[in-house]
Amino acid sequence: MKKTALLGLALISIAAAGCGQKQETSTQATPEWNANCARCHNGNMAVTKDTILAKYKDKTQLLNAVKELVSAGKMPPNLPYGKVADELYK
Ligand code: HEC
Repeated sequence: MKKTALLGLALISIAAAGCGQKQETSTQATPEWNANCARCHNGNMAVTKDTILAKYKDKTQLLNAVKELVSAGKMPPNLPYGKVADELYK
């Protein structure tokens, strides 16, 4: 489980580096994410933080995706998404 996650992380970093994208946030501490998102975004129930960082390039893209998922009833409405976005895309 841990090994798979680490491997995934390594692959994502390599893929991101290959595309010339920065992946600086993946090693940063993200307490808000850990407290509010990580319980579902564990790679099983929903994608991990690194997948999200690789997919969405900035806060606006992330928050737009979140908005759609929340209105589709797929994600809880009352989480501090803005705060987490600030933290992930510092
Ligand atoms: C109750 C569980 C749950 C929590 C808590 C949760 N999410 Fe999600 N999230 C999901 C699920 C399930 C999906 C996948 C929805 C789908 O596509 O069907 C998802 C998808 C997403 C996506 C889109 C991922 C993609 O592949 O494009 C983003 C971005 C996201 N969540 C951000 C967040 C953030 C930020 C937080 C914390 C503030 C959070 N989520 C908290 C369950 C959760």
